[in-house]
Amino acid sequence: MFFQSKLSTITVLSCLSLAVIPVARTATIQVTVGGPGVLAYTPDHVQANVGDVIQFAFKQKNHTITRSSLASPCSPLQGEGAFDSGFVPVADDETDFPLAQLTVRDTNPIWIYCRQANHCSANGMVFAVNPGNDFEAFKAAATGSSAASSAGASASATSTSAAPNPSTTSTSADHLVVVGGTAGNIYTPSNITAQPGDTVTFQFHSKNHTVTSSTFANPCSPNGKFSSGFMAVSPDATNFPTFTIQINDTQPIWVYCQQAGHCGQGMVFSVNAVESGPNNFGAFKDKAIQLNGTAAAPSAPPSTDTQNGALLPARSAGVIVALAGVVAGMLL
Ligand SMILES: *[C@@H]1O[C@H](CO)[C@@H](O)[C@H](O)[C@H]1NC(C)=O
Ligand SMILES: *[C@@H]1O[C@H](CO)[C@@H](O)[C@H](O)[C@H]1NC(C)=O
Ligand SMILES: *[C@@H]1O[C@H](CO)[C@@H](O)[C@H](O)[C@H]1NC(C)=O
Ligand SMILES: *[C@@H]1O[C@H](CO)[C@@H](O)[C@H](O)[C@H]1NC(C)=O
Ligand SMILES: *[C@@H]1O[C@H](CO)[C@@H](O)[C@H](O)[C@H]1NC(C)=O
Repeated sequence: MFFQSKLSTITVLSCLSLAVIPVARTATIQVTVGGPGVLAYTPDHVQANVGDVIQFAFKQKNHTITRSSLASPCSPLQGEGAFDSGFVPVADDETDFPLAQLTVRDTNPIWIYCRQANHCSANGMVFAVNPGNDFEAFKAAATGSSAASSAGASASATSTSAAPNPSTTSTSADHLVVVGGTAGNIYTPSNITAQPGDTVTFQFHSKNHTVTSSTFANPCSPNGKFSSGFMAVSPDATNFPTFTIQINDTQPIWVYCQQAGHCGQGMVFSVNAVESGPNNFGAFKDKAIQLNGTAAAPSAPPSTDTQNGALLPARSAGVIVALAGVVAGMLL
């Protein structure tokens, strides 16, 4: 039983693990799980090299380390590569904390959450290894989601299955951007850099937003290149529609929300804005507020909350799931 021995080990190795680990200095990275009054992993994300070991110390009260995905932060990853520590209750007066270790097999992101009650969906108790620019979006998607799973039986069932061969060599990336939700009328993150060949997947949370391309000169007017159309999502939605764009070059891409008043509030987004130049993201946002802010009072009412959940059919966010490649060996 995990809880009885302070550090027992079950190694789950990927097929290629022996071949792909280069000779390099490896480190042990310490992460605290919970603690008195703390519903968080501390730190909440880390950068790790291949071969590094992440050592989790379970503190109070009763948490898990459960693998999820960028698209569904508060649901257990199913199938190959899934891992789950199970619940680890730690008494208030405990001073000798149970440990778990995760060995990093490559530098792809690993997404993790606590599946206790609503720790993930209400408190954003999530953790990531090598999240790149996506940690903010991951955390926002977690707290915007009411899809927390505390059942867990299916999660633990897969914890000892071997990880598959992490042989994909794709160099393109998908960038997740959360639209709206509990963060308010904003895109999270608000600006990114992306390479030609990458994709950007916008995941729509409440309320009723768009992703519409514009120009730096006219931030709140469509330039006709692309628009998602209005995506009405109720506050209790558990499936989030997505809209994906392909990045074809390194030119800046300017985006805004067409919902009445939102652009003037600064609900804008950019890809590859040159931060060191005059046409940076901050200048774009300022211009949106200046041109379409409260001075230009919108006539249409902001009828954006959909109490009855007039939902669009959920589209697949599978492109994101596919990126959470199976890369880790979990030692418990
Ligand atoms: C830990 O949490 C799980 C899930 O909520 C629960 O089933 C279990 O009884 C808890 N353990 C203790 C000792 O509180
Ligand atoms: C912003 O203002 C311009 C100029 O008045 C207008 O053409 C445009 O429709 C406005 N955009 C939004 C989203 O309100
Ligand atoms: C979403 O907003 C648009 C534009 O304001 C509106 O036409 C549409 O009815 C809204 N959808 C819902 C379900 O509220
Ligand atoms: C990239 O090119 C494809 C194919 O021509 C096009 O559909 C897409 O809209 C382009 N992406 C952007 C951001 O303009
Ligand atoms: C651009 O996004 C980063 C986070 O991705 C943020 O720290 C920064 O403040 C943003 N820039 C502006 C001008 O808001």
